[in-house]
Amino acid sequence: MVGVHLSALSTLNYRNLAPGTLNFPAGVTGVYGENGAGKTNLLEAAYLALTGLTDVTRLEQLVQSGEREAYVRADVQQGGSLSIQEVGLGRGRRQLKVDGVRARAGDLPRGSAVWIRPEDSELVFGPPAGRRAYLDALLSRLSARYGQQLARYERTVSQRNAALKAGEDWAMHVWDDALVKLGTDIMSFRRRALTRLNELSCEANAALGSRKELTLTLTESTTPETYAADLASRRAEELARGSTVTGPHRDDLTLTLGEFPAGEYASRGEGRTVALALRRAELELLAERFGERPVLLIDDFTAELDPGRRAFLLNLAASVPQAIVTGTESVPGAALALHANGGRFTPEDHSTVEGARTKVGA
Ligand SMILES: Nc1ncnc2c1ncn2[C@@H]1O[C@H](COP(=O)(O)OP(=O)(O)OP(=O)(O)O)[C@@H](O)[C@H]1O
Ligand SMILES: [Mg+2]
Repeated sequence: MVGVHLSALSTLNYRNLAPGTLNFPAGVTGVYGENGAGKTNLLEAAYLALTGLTDVTRLEQLVQSGEREAYVRADVQQGGSLSIQEVGLGRGRRQLKVDGVRARAGDLPRGSAVWIRPEDSELVFGPPAGRRAYLDALLSRLSARYGQQLARYERTVSQRNAALKAGEDWAMHVWDDALVKLGTDIMSFRRRALTRLNELSCEANAALGSRKELTLTLTESTTPETYAADLASRRAEELARGSTVTGPHRDDLTLTLGEFPAGEYASRGEGRTVALALRRAELELLAERFGERPVLLIDDFTAELDPGRRAFLLNLAASVPQAIVTGTESVPGAALALHANGGRFTPEDHSTVEGARTKVGA
């Protein structure tokens, strides 16, 4: 299968990254350097430029301290053509352009990149919100309609909560109708997607050498059939609490490893393995959906992993058309090796690609 190709990444005033352009070859680019060198920042910038997405809520964090605005640009080959994707960041503001034309996040290709990072363990050990966010982000990328329905649903929940707080009992049937319609759509979509997601995660978990079977299930606070009745029966409680207590915004993606909930029983490394399996499944689902393999960004291939699982990650990187892998030690088998230091990235002598770094405007 062909893949998305990030040919160049340019940044200006992005966190600690020195301004400039990096060119990336096909295959694996390895980035190594000591703690604080800027490796994660580079992947974060690449993910943002490729997808328009970031999970940082205070966008000014991304802007180099002392500066007012930051900029990232990706030159991306996708679907047989080259496009220039630009993201400008200011105080609480994100502006996207594709080929020079203003765009919204939804206009960017949705299957361009998958980012695997040590923090993914939080998917396993953290609260349900993180797993919901994983599922919602993935499904929104697989289906624009899901993203739209989810946004409408979330808006409806907050408006309904405001009405509950104001004690507007008389208005509830209107909010309930809207909520049930949108919520039912979301539940049905999640249920349909879960079958394939479960298969792929389970497969990946086994390929990672785990002897315990991984199972994904939805723990739902209600069902499409009973949603309206559940809302009605909890009306008094909701008015008292001023919040909507049932619906897909309260559901969980339960991860079971062997017989037990992974979050409570898995070891750190087992947990990271489960998280890896979820990311691998994300990669496969996006590739199936869009017919191209996303660029794979792997942050810190050594973190918390034993040699077998590191090898899995490196094999995964080698199996996709393009990957960028970081580590505090050099990445074996890279087509291009970059040394990260103080936000600068210098090609190593043994790299097969030369002149990887050029100045912006050069
Ligand atoms: N807005 C910002 N302005 C300036 N510097 C920043 C900004 N945000 C983060 N940094 C700095 O960027 C540096 C590099 O961070 P980064 O997380 O990329 O390091 P890393 O190479 O991934 O390190 P590690 O190996 O520990 O994961 C940090 O020292 C951090 O303080
Ligand atoms: Mg890092």
